[in-house]
Amino acid sequence: MEYTYDFFKTSADYVREKIGFEPEIGIILGSSLGPLADEVEDPVVIPYEEIPNFLRSTVSTHAGKLICGKLAGRKVVCMSGRFHYYEGYEFEQLTAPVRLFHLLGCRACILTNAAGGVNLDYKPGDIMLIRDQIVLNGASPLRGKNLPEFGPRFFDVQKMYTPSLRQLALECGEGSGLTFHEGTYFYMTGPHFETPAEIRAIRILGGDAVGMSTVTEALTAAHCGMPCLAFSVITNMAAGVLDQALTDEEVNETGKTVSERLCRYLKKVLERM
Ligand code: HPA
Repeated sequence: MEYTYDFFKTSADYVREKIGFEPEIGIILGSSLGPLADEVEDPVVIPYEEIPNFLRSTVSTHAGKLICGKLAGRKVVCMSGRFHYYEGYEFEQLTAPVRLFHLLGCRACILTNAAGGVNLDYKPGDIMLIRDQIVLNGASPLRGKNLPEFGPRFFDVQKMYTPSLRQLALECGEGSGLTFHEGTYFYMTGPHFETPAEIRAIRILGGDAVGMSTVTEALTAAHCGMPCLAFSVITNMAAGVLDQALTDEEVNETGKTVSERLCRYLKKVLERM
């Protein structure tokens, strides 16, 4: 299918009409980070199914709602639940969330995810601020006909994880009770967790954390010139590091243990953005 500018605009027009304000920051909440959405003041909640031309969440731990309102004094639009290639979406479809933010007028986005720790200095519960990404197995979400209303055909991605926002995020981390790293996110398509051999290869290639999301959203933000800040919650050590099976339960449990501190921290970041 070929997507047009009007295709995305239809979604944004519907949301704009419903919320009646222009959000400043778009936030995508990953696994178990949903509690932040509960703190949005005067929320207007829109289930994804209601939004024309938008996608549907198929993962049970992802709520599938857009929550719009005020958080830490900022007007935000929060996606509680995101979309992944492993759900059956094409890479091109995964531009929808950030294009929605852009069309609603957001001036920056914050992306969060759960990821496996590849770097042996990381521990479950640590936070990795994403400095850069590696995508070797997947297509660009910007393939196909370019839509110049969003951005140019070819575009620079060297600073897609905006350096000034990373600096701000590190400063806000002091006293948060969370342990921060800055590192490289390595994308794997999933839905299976990786093999130990894949993780050894990822480590050699320079990946610090591994996960199944975020890169498409960051690329879409870079395409439309939107500053982007992204965090991984290290929910487990990646395959082969420990002699134990990887499970969705472990990912969700670790997510829950940090979610309160992370929510408090993200609000501090938002205040200063
Ligand atoms: N691999 C891929 N994605 C993940 C992981 C992992 O170990 N943990 C959380 N999301």
